[in-house]
Amino acid sequence: MINALNSLLHQADSELAAAISTSQMDSWRTKYLGSNGELKGLMARLKDAPRDQKPELGKRLNELKLHLEASFESRRGMISDVPKSPSIDVTEPGLPLDEGRRHILSRTIDEIIDVFGQMGFAVADGPEVEDEWHNFTALNIPEGHPARDATDNFYMGEQAGVKRLLRTQTSTVQIRAMESQPLPLKVVAVGRVYRPDTHDATHFSMFHQIEGLCVDRDLSLVDLKTALLQFAHAYFGKDAEVRMRPSFFPFTEPSAEVDMKMHIRGQWQWVEIGGCGMVDPNVFAAVGIDPEQWRGYAFGLGIERIAMRRYGISDIRWLFENDARFLRQF
Ligand code: DAH
Repeated sequence: MINALNSLLHQADSELAAAISTSQMDSWRTKYLGSNGELKGLMARLKDAPRDQKPELGKRLNELKLHLEASFESRRGMISDVPKSPSIDVTEPGLPLDEGRRHILSRTIDEIIDVFGQMGFAVADGPEVEDEWHNFTALNIPEGHPARDATDNFYMGEQAGVKRLLRTQTSTVQIRAMESQPLPLKVVAVGRVYRPDTHDATHFSMFHQIEGLCVDRDLSLVDLKTALLQFAHAYFGKDAEVRMRPSFFPFTEPSAEVDMKMHIRGQWQWVEIGGCGMVDPNVFAAVGIDPEQWRGYAFGLGIERIAMRRYGISDIRWLFENDARFLRQF
């Protein structure tokens, strides 16, 4: 019986290896694995085998059956006219992996903070939902001032008798820094600000500013201009220039608009990027700093303005639409 088993195994293997079509496969299966097939015939002879050989023979028959079934399956996968389960063509070119990247505004913010960090500015922070004290009063914007109009602010109702609003400027962080940190002080704060502007190519109801504040014993406009120039050189290149035009802000005296001359796409351009000035004595008074002892300079720059000019983005809305086709360019 062992011999019959071995010769069945060899015969079945070689016939299977020679099968090249579905019909040959089918007849092979009927011949060896069918209900009247060779294997069944051999199994029927088990009952006549000597008693002491039965366990071993039974085991061998079982192995043979498993072997024939597995051989059939694997051969079937190789026969071309048999429908196969989906297989992988390893010679096909791969699909490109979509690589993620940080948003162009986040990268701009990181780069700008990095430059100011190297200039000795620490990073300060403040809430986006502010009270009127930090957004207006302490910044020398008294009650009744047009900047407080309901149409120019997102008021959010009162909490414990205090009117809340989404901050319209990061200058609020100047107040928070002076209230909480010892002097001298040299900080920048970056964050979102909110204004109910109608959306168009240059206006969005939320945008980002970077605020700078330095308070020390002997500071003058020269220090302010030096800081802005250092930033411009580090960020836009050594040929960049800074221009200050007299202006007015309630929290600085004197005040100026800041323009920077940047080299953009082969051209030098003056771009207005924010405001600056020497901290107004009324602001110092609001936070209990003696204006006879301390001087301060401050500036606030628009992040979107910088990024849009630098990267040639002509519509601010694109920055917030999260269209990957746009963002992927940077
Ligand atoms: N907060 C002003 C704005 O949003 C910008 C600004 C002007 C900030 C002068 C300053 C400054 O710190 O000194 O328009």
